[in-house]
Order: sequence, then structure tokens, then C-alpha cells
Amino acid sequence: MSLNSASATKTQGFAPRVFGRYHLFDRIGAGGMAEIFLARATTELGGVRLCVVKLILSELSGNDKFAEMLTTEAKLAARLNHANVVQVFDLGRHESVLYIAMEYVEGFDLNALLRRCAQSGIPLPVDFALFVVMEALRGLGYAHRLTDDNNAPLGIVHRDVSPSNLLISFEGEVKLCDFGIARANDTTDLLSEEGIQGKAGYMSPEHASGGPLDARSDLFAAGIVLWELLAGRKLYRARKDGGQPTLLEQARAAAIPDLPSRGLPSEDFLYDIVKRALQPNPEDRYPSAQAMLRDLEEYVGRSRLVASPIRFGEWLRDHFEESVVLLRRSRERVAKAMQHGPLAVIKPLEDPTAADDLPRPKTLSSISTIDASSGTSPDRTAEAGDDTARVQGCDEGNADHRETSLVVYWAVGILIGLVMVGLVWAFR
Ligand SMILES: Nc1ncnc2c1ncn2[C@@H]1O[C@H](COP(=O)(O)OP(=O)(O)OP(=O)(O)O)[C@@H](O)[C@H]1O
Ligand SMILES: [Mg+2]
Repeated sequence: MSLNSASATKTQGFAPRVFGRYHLFDRIGAGGMAEIFLARATTELGGVRLCVVKLILSELSGNDKFAEMLTTEAKLAARLNHANVVQVFDLGRHESVLYIAMEYVEGFDLNALLRRCAQSGIPLPVDFALFVVMEALRGLGYAHRLTDDNNAPLGIVHRDVSPSNLLISFEGEVKLCDFGIARANDTTDLLSEEGIQGKAGYMSPEHASGGPLDARSDLFAAGIVLWELLAGRKLYRARKDGGQPTLLEQARAAAIPDLPSRGLPSEDFLYDIVKRALQPNPEDRYPSAQAMLRDLEEYVGRSRLVASPIRFGEWLRDHFEESVVLLRRSRERVAKAMQHGPLAVIKPLEDPTAADDLPRPKTLSSISTIDASSGTSPDRTAEAGDDTARVQGCDEGNADHRETSLVVYWAVGILIGLVMVGLVWAFR
């Protein structure tokens, strides 16, 4: 996940809030240019849909060039309709903040999954590693081939194929998100060196050098993901002291070490596929995602590896069931609380260091309490580090509520007392 200086202005401590027609009830992530919220959208007929709303950081939302580019790209992305691509269904501006609403994929991004695997000492089986890359290639192939109404190619390039943009559902589906959105970033110098470096780990050499890009640049990035899954480590590593060569310089040089032998069946064939995807010259790479996919399918067939969404989903649930259960339970609790009234507004703890440029929560007149901690996705908020603020914020909300109730009880008590005294006096 790439964080940059812009992220320094992100909301500190999350408060569920109403944002246009979305009820944002959990902050599930933050990237180089946006904060990600889990939300419920209410349709005109009262239907409710769980979705993800990506709020573009205010520094970028206010940049005209960026906004124009993002709108153009997001409009293209909204045309994509494929099982391996996260569906975008709304793009707009509310309270001067640009936002993109999209399908919610309940599960992990590939980075989070690999982190989980490392923490629990459970390696991701090769079958599933290949499955993830093959599914991503299906999504890429579809997008690269897409044409407009006159059959002219749209020339869509993802530009940011990386583990954090590969979402894996607990049902074993793999979906690419953030199609084309990275292009908007090229229009702004608001991304810090750190932000650019974060993305550089998966850049093709032509991308890192600022050259023109086509679909083959995405194949190079997919090749890096595959290389890393097979090697069990990052391809390019940033130096801890920030010294040379930087990630960007490594990406420009594209010096790819040989993969270590893992004793896989027909290993040479597999490693040749990786090598071809990672050729520095685009002409020497696979010409299309389909061509690379065909070779991978042949390898999988030859080696009798079995990978399907059903098996992958089972494997994920078998090993990370606890996360699934926690996540679903928390969603149900929030959903239930929402059915009983308008969204609770919970005051976040004031953070004097927090810049105040994202929209503040709207206060609703009728307040129903939600267990704020229940709206927390166990995995994704781990990085957000705002749980404490949220739980404390919730207590504060409850304390306010309790104080109001006490005043009402006292007032009613005094009133009853006065009536009794009056009655006694009247019948004396
Ligand atoms: N549609 C979605 N469904 C579920 N989780 C999502 C969705 N979109 C994003 N996320 C989660 O939010 C995280 C942050 O997303 P975001 O795209 O802002 O940052 P990033 O992918 O880390 O960086 P980048 O700015 O390079 O895309 C993702 O890594 C993922 O875990
Ligand atoms: Mg992303």
C-alpha cells in the first residue's frame, strides 16, 4: 500500500457519516490518493447496497488537471463489466470531494493475504498463486480489448497492476481494481517521492522512464507479481537508508534475477513464461494478456495443478475463517443497527495534528448508537491504526446519550413530585 505526504491530511479517527447518498460506516483502507470507506448506498426505492466509496484526498480533488483526468479515466473504467474487474458504478463530487463508488470485494487484497500467510506460516500454494495471476490476466485481457460503440479500441491500460490492486474475495474470486486511475496521478506533482516510489515496485521500465505505455506494460507488472509469488520475495527492494538505487531506478533498469528452483513440475516452462513477461523491451514480451494466459493454462494443465475459485475460496476460508466470521458478524451488527434508525454519528477524538480538509460528519437529529468497534474490518483497519480513536469516540457518544437521559429522568421525577405535592395540598 502506498502512502504519501498527501495522506498526512487524512481523517484521523473515523466517524460513521452521511456522504451524499452513501452512509460511510467503516474506513477500510488508504492509498496514495484516496481513503477507502465501506458504505451503504440507498436507492430511490429504498433498496440498500453495500459498496466501497473512494474519497479522493482534498489536495487532489481540488486540482483541476487531476480531476479532469480522473473523470475521463473513471468514465472509461465504468464501461468495464467483467468478473475479474471491480465494477465502478458512480463517480461524482460531493462537498467538493471527488469520489468513486464501486463494488465491495469482501476479503483481502493480495498484499494483505501474503502478510496473513507470512504471519501464520502458511505458504500460498503455487496452484493458487498461478490462479491469482491468471484471473488478473483475464481481467486485463478483457479491458485491453475493449472497444467503443464504433468498434474502435479504447486503449485502456491499467498502469498500476500491483498486489494492493488485486482483490481476493472469500469466495475465491480475484478482481482487479483502480483501472486507469493511476493515469490521473501522472498529471500532478502532488504525489510525493515516497508515493511515486511506492508504485515503482511494479512499474515496467518504459513506465518508470516516463515513456508511452500500452497493454504490454500491464503484462510486465503482472510478470512482477508472478515472479514475486514464485520467489517468495519482492523483486525490487528499496534500501532502508533511502540510498541508491531507488525503486524507480531499479524499475528503469529492469534487471531481473533468475528465479530460484523450487522443484516444481516443468519448472523451466513456467520460468520461461515469467521471463518473457519481464522482457525489458515490450516487443519481446507477450503481445497480449491472452497469449500469456494461454501459456499459463498450458503449464497448469501439463503440471496437473488444480486451481478454481471453489478450491481457492475453500482454502481461504479453511485458513482464515476467523477473519471471515469476524468481518461478517461486524457487518451484520452495523446493518442491523442501521435498520433501526439513521446512522449514528459518533464524534471522533479531536486530534490537534489532524488537518481538517475532509468533510466533517453531519450531525443527525436522531441518534441511534452503533457499536463503533463492530464496524471494523479486522484485517484492513490494522494499518489504519485508528481503532482506539474510534472506540473512544463511541464511548464519548454513549456518554453524551447517557447524560441526556439522566436530565430527562430528573425532570420527570421533579414534575411527578410537584404534582403529588399539589394533590396533597388540594385534598388537605
Ligand atoms: N472495491 C474494494 N473492495 C474491498 N476493498 C477495497 C476495494 N478497493 C480498495 N480496497 C482496499 O483498500 C485498500 C486501499 O486502496 P487504494 O486503492 O486507495 O490504495 P492502494 O491500492 O494501496 O494504493 P494505490 O493508490 O496505488 O491504488 C486496498 O489495498 C484494498 O485493501
Ligand atoms: Mg488501489
